[in-house]
Amino acid sequence: HPPVRSICCIGAGYVGGPTCTLLAARCPHIQVTIVDVNPSRIAAWNSPPDPLTGELTGLPVFEPGLGEVVKACRGRNLWFSTEIDEAIRAADLIFVSVNTPTKKSGIGAGYAADLHYVESSTRRIASVATSSKIIVEKSTVPCRTASSMRTILEANSRPGIHFDILSNPEFLAEGTAMRDLQNPDRVLIGCLDTPSGREAADRLGEVYENWVAPERIYTTGLWSSELSKLAANALLAQRISSINSLAAICESTGANIGEVAHACGLDKRIGPNFLRATCGFGGSCFSKDLLNLVYLSESLGLHPVAEYWRGVLAMNDWSKARFAQKVVSTMFNTITSKRVAVLGFAFKKDTGDTRESPAITLCRTFLEDNALLSIYDPKVPHEQIWRDLVNDPSRPSPSPYPGSGGVLLDSSLDASIASLKSSSRVTLASSALEACRDAEAVVITTPWDQFRTLDWQAVFSQMQKPAFVFDGHSGFLDVARLEKIGFKVQAVGRGPEKMDAWL
Ligand code: NAI
Repeated sequence: HPPVRSICCIGAGYVGGPTCTLLAARCPHIQVTIVDVNPSRIAAWNSPPDPLTGELTGLPVFEPGLGEVVKACRGRNLWFSTEIDEAIRAADLIFVSVNTPTKKSGIGAGYAADLHYVESSTRRIASVATSSKIIVEKSTVPCRTASSMRTILEANSRPGIHFDILSNPEFLAEGTAMRDLQNPDRVLIGCLDTPSGREAADRLGEVYENWVAPERIYTTGLWSSELSKLAANALLAQRISSINSLAAICESTGANIGEVAHACGLDKRIGPNFLRATCGFGGSCFSKDLLNLVYLSESLGLHPVAEYWRGVLAMNDWSKARFAQKVVSTMFNTITSKRVAVLGFAFKKDTGDTRESPAITLCRTFLEDNALLSIYDPKVPHEQIWRDLVNDPSRPSPSPYPGSGGVLLDSSLDASIASLKSSSRVTLASSALEACRDAEAVVITTPWDQFRTLDWQAVFSQMQKPAFVFDGHSGFLDVARLEKIGFKVQAVGRGPEKMDAWL
């Protein structure tokens, strides 16, 4: 393999877009083309800057800092295109960065990864490539997927063409993607232990060495690399479920989860990060990858292993349900016809992504209990919120729409949205303050910085009394200050001592 001069990335989503944009910025000598089957997504990546501010506000993915880097590279050595075959032919190295959602029907439904998009990209590479290439698995896939990709490539490629397959899972976190990509904890490259496999890994390593220190680039076997991605997400999710389980004990005993987490985190073996108790984790990856690991364990006959990781998911479901229940029970066991302001709809701050957001589960529970909702999120488009409120993710999907996490695009969805809109049970507000007007409770579902610094005095004066605040993220709001204003505050993991004073 010669040094890499031209890269194609298949899949212009949350991973492919930011990853290859940063790569283009750090490697001006490499031509980078990001392609996708979804023309509207590509059009959005090519959208012009706002004429007033000069900012790229039309990109399909919101990430702090992403717009500036796209602006600097687009048209120089970064291209967004639907001309997939052309980009494949021109590339020395191809990232496969397509979605791998949980299967909704068939064998393994509800657990296994749907590898349909990975397979169709692989077949396309095999059928159009006219020269040898390095193929890089960027998507999160079950252990040994590279082996299937290799079989497909070998069975379908033209004579004399050789493909090497690498695994290079992405560890970026949405909301901090640009920072994580610029300064990764590690870059993991998995390869076959053959001369050409090792050479391919070297070529990819050289690309990263344009901005990543060589000691942070870790090369392993293919299967270790694939499994490490599932393992890392499982361990992170397990940490959240662990702290959330302890938060429940705190709420029943008077202990404070902030103090407990800090005390535990001071132990070097545990460490202080990722120990914030919440109303549950969300995002497109944690649940999907845990389910994937459960399925893998089951299919290997390792039932206790499957059961162990299933527990992490069960604790997360329970955390969301417990928080919703706390809202209802605190509001005198009924929220019927009460206005509840929901602040935040994205699955975490600094992203517009709502996939698996706990806010969706919470809002649906409140609606089933006949509440009236006012929802505000700084980045999530209103159409997405409507879709998430009516779309049942457990329903088998006849036409998954790649690019929106398998959201249904059928006429029954439109009808459900129209019916919810006309019921007036949900209002989408254009500011946090507006969402809180006349509300009996404010529920913080996503910890956007702007909610912490809200004019809480103004919020209080326009709310019904008693004015309740439910903080889904331990330590996010200044509870003492809110209580001084007059709010009745419940926060995840905060014991009942102070509550007793007002109940
Ligand atoms: P996404 O759904 O945002 O993007 C995937 C894109 O691939 C879509 O735009 C879709 O239209 C396109 N696509 C599907 N099949 C195609 C084909 N045959 N040819 C061309 N384009 C095709 O998904 P996202 O979030 O970027 O995730 C991609 C992969 O990366 C998944 O395996 C995910 O598990 C993994 N991952 C995601 C992270 C995240 O934070 N979102 C972090 C780390 C890994």
